[in-house]
Amino acid sequence: MSHTIQRIAVCGAGTMGAGIAQVAAAAGFDTFLSDINAAMLEKAKAGIYKNWNVAIEKGKMTAEAMQAAQAKLQFVTTLEQTPVDMVIEAIIERLDIKQKLFCDIANWNNEQTIIVSNTSSLSITQIAAGVPHPERVAGMHFFNPAHLMKLVEVVEGAATTTGTVQAVKAVAEKMGKTVVLTKDAPGFIVNRVARHFYVENLKLAEEGVAEMRTLDALCENAGFKMGAFSLMDLIGNDINFAVTSSLFNAFHQDSKFRPSRIQEQKVLAGHLGKKTGKGFYDYNK
Ligand SMILES: NC(=O)c1ccc[n+]([C@@H]2O[C@H](COP(=O)([O-])OP(=O)(O)OC[C@H]3O[C@@H](n4cnc5c(N)ncnc54)[C@H](O)[C@@H]3O)[C@@H](O)[C@H]2O)c1
Repeated sequence: MSHTIQRIAVCGAGTMGAGIAQVAAAAGFDTFLSDINAAMLEKAKAGIYKNWNVAIEKGKMTAEAMQAAQAKLQFVTTLEQTPVDMVIEAIIERLDIKQKLFCDIANWNNEQTIIVSNTSSLSITQIAAGVPHPERVAGMHFFNPAHLMKLVEVVEGAATTTGTVQAVKAVAEKMGKTVVLTKDAPGFIVNRVARHFYVENLKLAEEGVAEMRTLDALCENAGFKMGAFSLMDLIGNDINFAVTSSLFNAFHQDSKFRPSRIQEQKVLAGHLGKKTGKGFYDYNK
């Protein structure tokens, strides 16, 4: 089956959804960004417009291109009345909530609508299992910040057809992204490899071997763009902790993926990182 993708909905207007909607609209897709929380939509809109203005200041975008992109982007609190060709889901990292949303989306659209998840760690096969026509479900994993990071992992679940994979790849490429194809496996490629970066840095801090500032400075001086603690604050400690927990369980409690108590405490305290103003670092100062 060949797919023509023109209308895209992005579900979840948080850290990732806003950036994904920004690139979708700028690439010329009719884009609908949805969130159950209207305040998140307002925040996303302000952030996207700010990013576009920065791009103009840097000479990376023209004023005409910004106007065209703005005209392509709409903000909605439900997708129930908005049939589209493709939905990119970027909501909370919880299997039960994603499964329910995927079934709702399937009911609101026809059976050809492609539904992809931006999940970092959950099984695409499992998300797709309860959805009518699971062959049109895949993973489309962007990286943070989604409007700047080039890489996208396109994930093939057990039921995903080649046609679906190719359609998702074509959409990502139209957005200017570089695509890596991967089979469905815990953490796919990048999060499985990168997990040890977070886990080992957290262990070093937990054991008192070195302070987080020292560890971040060391990584940054060794050539990493960001140290692990700054990066976890950017990602969101809730998301990062959920991803590590998910990989730990998916690999049958393999101790090399053991989630960290100090990160769990950050989550319990609501110190989620940049998005709440405080995480490992304090952003209110
Ligand atoms: N944060 C990262 O660096 C990162 C990177 C790659 C992938 N991801 C994945 O992307 C997804 C989203 O992560 P995030 O960091 O953007 O989360 P976030 O917490 O910043 O935003 C999630 C948004 O989803 C909304 N939401 C929750 N339930 C909803 C529903 N049923 N319908 C519509 N909106 C709903 C919330 O109101 C919130 O605005 C997760 O699956 C995460 O694993 C995150």
